[in-house]
Amino acid sequence: MTELGRPLIVGNWKMNGLSAELDEIDAIASGLAGDGFGGITCVICPPATLIDRARARAGGRLAIGAQDCAIPARGAHTGDCSAEMLRDAGATWVIVGHSERRADHGETDGLVRAKAEAAHRASLTPIVCVGETLAEREGGRADAVVAAQVAQSIVGACDGARTVVAYEPVWAIGTGLVPRGDQIRAMHALIRRELTAKLGTAGQAIPLLYGGSAKPDNAADILALDGVDGLLIGGASLRSAEFLRIARIAAGLDG
Ligand code: PGA
Repeated sequence: MTELGRPLIVGNWKMNGLSAELDEIDAIASGLAGDGFGGITCVICPPATLIDRARARAGGRLAIGAQDCAIPARGAHTGDCSAEMLRDAGATWVIVGHSERRADHGETDGLVRAKAEAAHRASLTPIVCVGETLAEREGGRADAVVAAQVAQSIVGACDGARTVVAYEPVWAIGTGLVPRGDQIRAMHALIRRELTAKLGTAGQAIPLLYGGSAKPDNAADILALDGVDGLLIGGASLRSAEFLRIARIAAGLDG
C-alpha cells in the first residue's frame, strides 16, 4: 500500500443506507474532487449491500470500506461475507471489532484479530476498534481494558502501513458525549506505547483514529490533539454536507 494521506477520515454508516443514499456518495465524491483534498484520505463504509455501487460512484478520492468480514475465505457460513468477497465488491478497507459487534455479537479479541488477519489476506486494510465502556472508565479500568484489547486484537506480525487502530470509547458512541482532549491524548499515547511494544517500528506507523460523537463542531479540536491521526465518524457521516465539512477541516480548508 502506498503511504496514507493523513488525516484519515472514515465514515461508518452502520446499518443505514438504501439505494437512494448513493446520492450522498455522489455528493461526497464530487466535493472531494475539488482543490485541496489531495493530501488526506477519505473512506466511507456503507452497508455491504451498497459496496459495489458505492465503489462505482466514489471517484478517485473516496475509498470504500466494509463494516465487518468473516474469517474464512469461503465455505459453508450462511449469511457471512468473506474479506475476499468484500474486496471483490470494491472495498479496500474493513472495520473490525466495532464495539457494537463486540457487544451485540459477542466478538472477542481473538475473533477480532482473526478478522484482521482475514482482511490482510484479502488485501483489505483493517480498522481495528478498541475502547472502554463507561463502567470500565468510572471503575478506573479504561487503560487496562484498552491495553489488553490492543495486545490481543492486533495481528502480531502486521505491517504498520496496512493496519489502522480506532479508539472509540463506548460511552461516546452515538451519545453526543466526547472525552476531554487530555483523555483522548492520554489514551492515544497508551495505544501507541502498546503498539510499539508489540510491533516495534511497525507499531509507530499505524494511524490512530478517534471515534465517538465526532462532528463538524468538534473535529478541529480533536484533530489538533497530539497522537490523533484521523476520525472514525458514525452519525455525522450519513449526510454528505457534514462529512464534507469534516473533510474540509481535516484538509485545512476550513476553521
Ligand atoms: P458516532 O459513531 O460518530 O455516531 O458516535 C461512531 C462509531 O460508532 O464509529
